[in-house]
Amino acid sequence: MEELMRRWDGERVVMRYDADADAWIFIAIHSTRLGDASGGSRLRVYSSPRDGLWDAQRLAAGMTYKWAGVDFPVGGGKGVIALSRALDATECDRLLERYGDMVESLRGGFSTGADLGVGPESVRVIGRRTRYVFGLRGAGDPGPWTALGVFTSMRAVAREVFGSPDLEGSKVLVQGVGDVGAPLCQRLAAAGANLVIADLDRGRAEEVAGLVEARVVDVQAVYEEPCDIFAPCAVGAILDEHTIPRLRCRAVAGSANNQLKSPEDAERLMARGILYSPDFINNAGGAIALCGLEALNMAESEVEAKVLSIGDTLAEIFSDALTRCESPVRAAERRAMQVLERGPPSAA
Ligand code: PHE
Repeated sequence: MEELMRRWDGERVVMRYDADADAWIFIAIHSTRLGDASGGSRLRVYSSPRDGLWDAQRLAAGMTYKWAGVDFPVGGGKGVIALSRALDATECDRLLERYGDMVESLRGGFSTGADLGVGPESVRVIGRRTRYVFGLRGAGDPGPWTALGVFTSMRAVAREVFGSPDLEGSKVLVQGVGDVGAPLCQRLAAAGANLVIADLDRGRAEEVAGLVEARVVDVQAVYEEPCDIFAPCAVGAILDEHTIPRLRCRAVAGSANNQLKSPEDAERLMARGILYSPDFINNAGGAIALCGLEALNMAESEVEAKVLSIGDTLAEIFSDALTRCESPVRAAERRAMQVLERGPPSAA
């Protein structure tokens, strides 16, 4: 963990060991250049506290780029509750309350909301102890908004790769049909896509498949499954030197944060001729909705327009990347860096 702290380019990590639940809590604040930090809170079992810290740091950096990418006056941060074992519902609620106390103690330096393992119910529990939580004052569940952004991203990807944004008849593989994956499947089904889905929770996959007419594949078979667009909508760091050579898709566009295990994986995908749509752009819909509706006083129609503009942003990113012969991730990072260098809108 010392090494991770030394190497990180972020501002600070607030850390706590929770003895009752034998859990580690990390609130990573990556950058407050554009404003107070905000990002979701993630709760899951990690094989070591170190893995939890690593995830928090990477996710917080992703939030910095995400907020800069949509030009919102918000900084990047993320909360990770790293469990050592699965907890029962009561233990979990108590832990989330203590987590809420910790968020409150930062007095607005970090505000949070839903993420993997922290659904709308858990957000309510955190909200018992802190005001610095998004999702309780109008925006509700960010999942469907994130799904709308990913759907729009896929249309941009399809235009780039297949020449038309129409997804009718395209084969789309969705990995993870949770809070984002499930509403995404609904949109894809309505657009006439041919859906293949997988989820660690097989029952969940069958349930969604029943609703949208999808074929369920085993989680192990995901990387070899031939498809037009692969949509990772579960955990991150799944694209690496082992999985990329196995992929049989033309493009990757999903909601999971940090899909690439290391920066070189962007080049690996390029070398294979697979268009990788940068995750922190694709999945900004939830963040836009939560912050737009609950902090920036945007109307729902404005939020929707902003989420849909993700498609245009991606079209520009793909074209920049092509001109400079670089990966779309590099092009997207460069755009975000320009916003960060400029600073918050009021200072511009
Ligand atoms: N966790 C989601 C994300 O990473 C949504 C979220 C954004 C939650 C910002 C809270 C604050 O985009």
